[in-house]
Amino acid sequence: MKNRRVVLITGASSGFGRATAEYLTERGYWVFGTSRHPKKLEPFDTEKWQEIIKMDVNCNESVKKGIVFVMQKAGRIDILINNAGFGLTGSIEDTSLKEARHQFETNFWGMDRTCLQIIPIMRKQGSGYIINISSLAGLVGIPFQAFYSASKFAVEGFTETLRMEVKPFGIKVVLLEPGDFNTPLTFNRQKTKEAQEKTVYWESFQKALSAAEESEIKGGSPKKIAQLIERIINTDKPKLRYKIGPSSTLVSLKAFIPARICEYLIMKTFKLL
Ligand SMILES: NC(=O)c1ccc[n+]([C@@H]2O[C@H](COP(=O)([O-])OP(=O)(O)OC[C@H]3O[C@@H](n4cnc5c(N)ncnc54)[C@H](OP(=O)(O)O)[C@@H]3O)[C@@H](O)[C@H]2O)c1
Repeated sequence: MKNRRVVLITGASSGFGRATAEYLTERGYWVFGTSRHPKKLEPFDTEKWQEIIKMDVNCNESVKKGIVFVMQKAGRIDILINNAGFGLTGSIEDTSLKEARHQFETNFWGMDRTCLQIIPIMRKQGSGYIINISSLAGLVGIPFQAFYSASKFAVEGFTETLRMEVKPFGIKVVLLEPGDFNTPLTFNRQKTKEAQEKTVYWESFQKALSAAEESEIKGGSPKKIAQLIERIINTDKPKLRYKIGPSSTLVSLKAFIPARICEYLIMKTFKLL
């Protein structure tokens, strides 16, 4: 156990986090995966998992406690995968400040909270990998998912900066930008309170949401993310960005095509034209 690389994955109870935890465990890594409700996982996961720890990335104390636990048990953290997150949907006008803040609390501040605890550990070690799970929605705005997109745009800016700041300490920081994949994210997505039939956005909201859901359900297996993560953590000089999944070519075009064409393609994708 002592010679294995130690991995911490936030939000490992389902989807990407779980697939990665299971895959890396099979490949011999010492994996600590977090959930806000680890008890729910115990009966069926003990075979595949080594460590499931309770952590809510919205809470400083909870993050600290989780990381202290990993350090007491493993004595180091080689790889952090900031994966915990959820989707929020509703027009901007139908989203309260409270709902928007909650989205940022998990998707952005949760990542920052975890980084703040882990960076000093990796600095002392003189090495480490931090992989922040962003999204293609962190590169283009998605209709009726403004605050999800904005939270991932924030992850993008944060990560670009962090990468430069911690480079001298041997810490490698990477953005992973998946397109649509088939995970419970689709069913865990929260609708804003005002996203109801009475809203003026109802028709287009429903069209865009069902297009998003359809594409996610048809999306690839989260195991592909796990395999890419293993490749990244075995790359000496990882790139800043790794795009994966459908639409990544389209999103890459953003830098090269006029904005109105990009907007047309996005609106077409979300059945708004
Ligand atoms: N699926 C996609 O198509 C897709 C595409 C691009 C990016 N992503 C991103 O990939 C990441 C993982 O999503 P997924 O698709 O695997 O969705 P998922 O199956 O719903 O998994 C989300 C994970 O986040 C955890 N989580 C949520 N809120 C949390 C909190 N406050 N504290 C700690 N953990 C929390 C959940 O754990 P508990 O509920 O057990 O605490 C769960 O394990 C997210 O950041 C998402 O934005 C997904």
